[in-house]
Amino acid sequence: MRSWGEAPARDETVLDGRGKTAVPGFIDPHTHLPWAGFREEEFNERLKGRTYAEIAAAGGGIVATVAATRRATEEELATNVRSRLDRMLLHGTTFCEAKTGYGLEKAAELKQLRAIFRGAERHPVGVAATALPGHEVPPERRGGAASKRRWVGEITDEILPALAAAGARFVDVFCETGVFDIGESRAILLAGKAHGLVPRLHADELSPLGGARLAAEVGAASADHLLFASDDGIEAMARSGVVATLLPGTSVFLRMNRYAPARKFVAAGVPVALATDCNPGSSYTESLPAVAFFAAIGMGLTVEETLTAMTLNAAASLGEAGARGTLEPGKRGDVVLLDGPSLPHLVYHYGVNPVATVVVGGRVAVRDGRRA
Ligand code: NIG
Ligand code: FE
Repeated sequence: MRSWGEAPARDETVLDGRGKTAVPGFIDPHTHLPWAGFREEEFNERLKGRTYAEIAAAGGGIVATVAATRRATEEELATNVRSRLDRMLLHGTTFCEAKTGYGLEKAAELKQLRAIFRGAERHPVGVAATALPGHEVPPERRGGAASKRRWVGEITDEILPALAAAGARFVDVFCETGVFDIGESRAILLAGKAHGLVPRLHADELSPLGGARLAAEVGAASADHLLFASDDGIEAMARSGVVATLLPGTSVFLRMNRYAPARKFVAAGVPVALATDCNPGSSYTESLPAVAFFAAIGMGLTVEETLTAMTLNAAASLGEAGARGTLEPGKRGDVVLLDGPSLPHLVYHYGVNPVATVVVGGRVAVRDGRRA
């Protein structure tokens, strides 16, 4: 390492950090990047008072995106992934997770997974892929318990093994009333685990179903959302070392008048991470700084807790804490220069992009707010 004031070597870049604040590159541990089509009318319907559940029951929601994503080519999806990664990078994200889950049939789930890898090829933002065929029951599989059982069986026996073989790293499930119950979610997560995928799950997002406890039981890396997590679920997560990945952007976007109990997780010793949930239905943003603002104002995280949640704890949620999430020798050189003289500017200067410069793996990827 070079000491302070020494002249740079020929191949070194010197960045002027005066008036700026250096923090670790941001990590977004929960996104649904490879989708086609928007759902902006649903957004407007919610402003008129309809709920997410009502819109889904009327044929909108996840299945609307499934239809558009099935129609899209792999190349179109890869282009969408790439432009979303571009926007994430400009907002300071240097590594993220991305899920399938809008295919809901083997071929379309594999198409989404390949689109994640293709969109991320040679992109500065690194991506870990998650298999989420257990995001919903596709329309053609609805109608009766037997049909549902066959769908869960196809997920566990055919789709997850194929996604694992094609390079997915995690398995996820939407464990929710009316979607997959605890037993079905357990079967899906354990099947993924048997094929080498690390479990993580959408847990206790819209109702108190016991997803936090299930996360602890199956040894999940992370339980996500958690608005309705029970006290014993929180305790169980603390004992098992499960990260709580919170998505307060979703609370705001769905007008839920409720946030995850972030302070309870902190008090219980559960590491809290933050993520965008970037998707067309419940949280359309690539900006972790926007999420940080909601986390601070809505859930009462301090600025320091917010930064830890979008760096080191997010890295832990993805099994990357050994390589990313802090600025220290031995880790990757992923650095964000905030456009402000002190750390609070990350959250305090809201509604704008507070990121000036992004360095990924020691290379300048964004300079003064533009791709380098
Ligand atoms: O994380 N909860 C399930 N999945 C997404 C929503 C997906 C959608 O509405 O398209 C979520 O909120
Ligand atoms: Fe999600």
